[in-house]
Amino acid sequence: MSSDQRLPGHPHIARKNGTLHVEGASLAALAREHGTPLFVYSKQWMLDALGAYQRGFEGRDALVCYAIKANSSLGVLRVFAEAGCGFDIVSGGELARVLAAGADPAKVIFSGVGKTKSEMRQALAAGIGCFNVESEAEIDVLNAVALEEGRRASISVRINPNVDPKTHPYISTGLKGNKFGIAHDRAVAIYQHAASLQGLQVVGIDCHIGSQITDASPYLEALERVLDLVEAIEKTGIALHHLDFGGGLGIDYNGDTPPAADALWQQLLARLDARGFGRRRLIVEPGRSLVGNAGACVTEVLYTKPGAEKNFCIVDAAMNDLPRPAMYQAFHRIVPVAERQGEAVSYDVVGPVCESGDWIGRDRALTVEAGDLLAVLSAGAYSMAMASNYNTRGRAAEVLISGERATLIRRRESIEDQLRSERFDG
Ligand code: LLP
Repeated sequence: MSSDQRLPGHPHIARKNGTLHVEGASLAALAREHGTPLFVYSKQWMLDALGAYQRGFEGRDALVCYAIKANSSLGVLRVFAEAGCGFDIVSGGELARVLAAGADPAKVIFSGVGKTKSEMRQALAAGIGCFNVESEAEIDVLNAVALEEGRRASISVRINPNVDPKTHPYISTGLKGNKFGIAHDRAVAIYQHAASLQGLQVVGIDCHIGSQITDASPYLEALERVLDLVEAIEKTGIALHHLDFGGGLGIDYNGDTPPAADALWQQLLARLDARGFGRRRLIVEPGRSLVGNAGACVTEVLYTKPGAEKNFCIVDAAMNDLPRPAMYQAFHRIVPVAERQGEAVSYDVVGPVCESGDWIGRDRALTVEAGDLLAVLSAGAYSMAMASNYNTRGRAAEVLISGERATLIRRRESIEDQLRSERFDG
């Protein structure tokens, strides 16, 4: 359509005849049908994002394991399962989700610093591909659980390469002071210990340095350190079949310019080739970069409220639906679904939750009136997956768009859903 105006950084969101569409679906029509707040995802954006990784790995032995913590809705998992992805999980609940979505258990890896024994048993019974273990204590517990179950657990040890990913402190994970992974200088001894245990089969090494990384340099730095360790570990006679470089690649929230996945991997593969590891099996665990800009959250303006120092635009989505601004001071672009004429006013866009921290965007120039719809962009990752029932607000509905087709992949949570598991005496 010639009247399409694509939003920068959002190739599948466009204004057509004045109103926003995700692929072929009108956000205004979806909001009328399903109510607000409403998450709307472009399937094509997800497949394109995955395609960039697949192009980057062409001709290599590589597996993309989608880190489902970014968005674990079954309808989203199904898209990646059908596209042949593996999955990176961090709990027994996430394991149940990926199996329900049709994942191949052999392509599932289990990350996280605090796996319980029952989660280990559940994952062993499912036959997952690999446990990414994060401490010496976990190695011994997993060994004991595997022996009790009469199984052998395939493991990779997560290394903390002590690299600064130059991102928000809450989402940086590869520094010495973080709780994640095993210190570089302990790695060889820990691998030797793990390799001596009957319940374990050492198969790989992994690292994950942080999230929303917008520069290739921390990856390159981590890669060199991991490869130094691989050489040191293999010198002791332990073979590492795969190298897992985690996730972390950022997206464009507000003019950010992360490298494309294929461009990043071109650089990383050049280093892997140069050091003789280019034919090793490679695993990555991307989350945000596979779903982040696929999603928008449509919300209705309830009230505009002029204030002494600030004007407030009060919308029906809140920190329970979109927790990233409150938690990380994160920026999400906010655009009107239908543009209206008139002078723009600077607003803080806030939700109905009773906390001053419940804001979605600050100092945004908007021309809005009560009843208008706004789209909060880049909401595909770490929004619905982190949503809560705070203030007894039901979680939003979600719709997956493929061309003109819209599928409701999660109905709005009702008050009955929320009260179902609770009891009181008397
Ligand atoms: N692998 C491991 C071991 C991880 O801990 C994570 C994310 C990923 C992979 C996926 O990272 P991604 O590709 O999505 O950056 N809630 C925060 C992000 C927390 C990330 C936690 N770990 C946010 O909204 O920014």
